[in-house]
Amino acid sequence: MSDFEHVFDRPPEGAAADWTIPQNWSAYTEVEHQTWDTLYRRQMTILPGRASDGFMKGLEALDLNTGGIPDFEVMNPKLQALTGWTVVCVPGLVPDEVFFDHLANRRFPSGQFIRKPDQLDYLQEPDIFHDVFGHVPMLTDPDFAAYMEAYGEGGQRAAGLGMLQNLARLYWYTVEFGLVEDPGGLRIYGAGIVSSATESVFALEDPSPNRLGFDLERVMRTLYRIDDFQQVYFVVPSIEELKRDTLQDFGPIYARLKGASDIPIDAVLPSDRVFTRGTQAYAAKGGRFAA
Ligand code: PHE
Ligand code: CO
Repeated sequence: MSDFEHVFDRPPEGAAADWTIPQNWSAYTEVEHQTWDTLYRRQMTILPGRASDGFMKGLEALDLNTGGIPDFEVMNPKLQALTGWTVVCVPGLVPDEVFFDHLANRRFPSGQFIRKPDQLDYLQEPDIFHDVFGHVPMLTDPDFAAYMEAYGEGGQRAAGLGMLQNLARLYWYTVEFGLVEDPGGLRIYGAGIVSSATESVFALEDPSPNRLGFDLERVMRTLYRIDDFQQVYFVVPSIEELKRDTLQDFGPIYARLKGASDIPIDAVLPSDRVFTRGTQAYAAKGGRFAA
């Protein structure tokens, strides 16, 4: 589910120069709308009390529950009025520089397709449920909205400096798999978690993964996995602090990172703020491939 790999080298047939394609909402089938509804209803039984206040508020503000796959022509005016973001459709994973340019202009690229009914629990490529249900509610939060725009600009800079691998880890451990300390306790804001029924429970309640305080440089050194539940989640004190932390100039950080080693996925360092010291039992047993 990495947003950093791509399949094509140039916009495919039917796509614009910026790689966008029409959503073509009227072409979705009844089965596809039902898949959205099934996934939506299932997440609503799991997320209250687990997803962050910001996510739940955003979901409500966008009114994505009106039946079936959201029509971007209906959703975008609501989102745009809140933070200036819009969602555009792309044919799949797009090149890094295209992705960053969209973010830097407050456009979030979403897949157009929805998963098949037999893939409700796992798929490799982000579909419209992951991209819209998972990502868009947080884009209604002004701090998160600013963070994502800055990330797009930061991506362009990191690409020029050869530091994309490090910056991608920041995206992974915040935008996709981040936890936040809400007034009520640890909550999910990462899109990769909130769009997954099983990981929504695992990320907060399973004894396996480490849950550690967010530290910018530490995160940018930490390896991650794309094939299974995470072995470590990082907790930000608030989205506002995440934004403030990342608005600093990364120049000196990149200079230090050039000589720094990668941190293994299951490491707990003496400098870590430990919320949970995980057993790593899930990963040790082979994860989702366990017999
Ligand atoms: N502040 C970063 C830089 O100077 C840019 C950035 C902002 C990166 C927010 C990620 C998120 O490169
Ligand atoms: Co995603």
